[in-house]
Amino acid sequence: MAESATTVSRVKLHNMEFTPYLSAAELEVAIARVAGEIDAKYAGQRPLFLGVLNGAFFFAAELMKRLDTECEISFIKVASYLGTSSSGSVTQLIGLTERIEGRHVVIVEDIVDTGGTIAHIMEELAERHPASVAVAALLFKPDAYERQYPIDHVAVRIPNVFVVGSGLDHDGLGRNLPGIWRILEPTS
Ligand code: XMP
Ligand code: MG
Repeated sequence: MAESATTVSRVKLHNMEFTPYLSAAELEVAIARVAGEIDAKYAGQRPLFLGVLNGAFFFAAELMKRLDTECEISFIKVASYLGTSSSGSVTQLIGLTERIEGRHVVIVEDIVDTGGTIAHIMEELAERHPASVAVAALLFKPDAYERQYPIDHVAVRIPNVFVVGSGLDHDGLGRNLPGIWRILEPTS
């Protein structure tokens, strides 16, 4: 019989090994706290949540099912491609069909690392004149963060290590792992 996921201490995804870091139960407690923060802040304001695919599907679902506030949710993607000029990589927001003018928007992210992605999304959304834009992240790496935008609602702050699970992937794999798994330092 296969070992249950909760007793496995290592998992290999492509060429990298990962070990359990946060349990699914710990995430649930943290997400419930974030839901409470958001309910208190947005009561009566009908916020629009924008989940950033692919990674945020898990956090978006777990957050939404705990919210009492009347709200809407939609999903966006950030596509990266190499620009033709010397500017290098260019990012583009795709999938935003809602009118956000005058709305209270909450970006729902799996993880905020350097902040480049979230800064780009904030700038694109600002052009559309929302009433406010806040960020809710399942995970935040404060030691890696290089931007000024506040990350308003964070489930769990983590050190600057690469993690997978609960929506986060290593080259496409690992999104289905329960809880959060951190990369194992190579042992010599
Ligand atoms: P930035 O640096 O733009 O990064 O804040 C955000 C995006 O980078 C990916 N990312 C990770 N993905 N484990 C992952 O599976 C990690 O530890 C990690 N750190 C950053 C992720 O796509 C995120 O949206
Ligand atoms: Mg992401």
